[in-house]
Amino acid sequence: MTTTTPPAPEPKRSLRLALLGDHRRMEELIENVGRCVSADDRHGALGEWPALERMLLAHMDLEEMLLFPKLSPSEAKAVGRLRAEHADIRARLGEIGLALELHVARKAMFDDLVARLLDHAGREDDILYGWADRKLPERVLEALLRRRDDH
Ligand SMILES: [Fe+2]
Ligand SMILES: [Fe+2]
Repeated sequence: MTTTTPPAPEPKRSLRLALLGDHRRMEELIENVGRCVSADDRHGALGEWPALERMLLAHMDLEEMLLFPKLSPSEAKAVGRLRAEHADIRARLGEIGLALELHVARKAMFDDLVARLLDHAGREDDILYGWADRKLPERVLEALLRRRDDH
């Protein structure tokens, strides 16, 4: 007699791992542009920048629109800080984009942006990402992952 074992259920995808992966990718892209700037490769820097800018803006939009509002009101202060950090990151993106156009960007601007992103990412991982994987219903996590995959 042969027995067939049912197929193993699909492993649940982790929003935390997906978003941490995005952080790493964005840090790499910023470092790439910073290297182009150091090498006075204006063409390379301007070529790489739009994809990074789009990815970072879409990542922050998704967090602000779909994740921050789901956190408990007891986390309001922490969410306020994360939103303020996003505003700071957006302002820096604008400054750097303009500096690239004007050919006055400096490597230190990119190092500073990476440092701020790392700091922000650590706080998000502590407050938001593990909580989302543990507490959000699976269908909501799947929907969030699909939204993120669309970017
Ligand atoms: Fe964020
Ligand atoms: Fe993030």
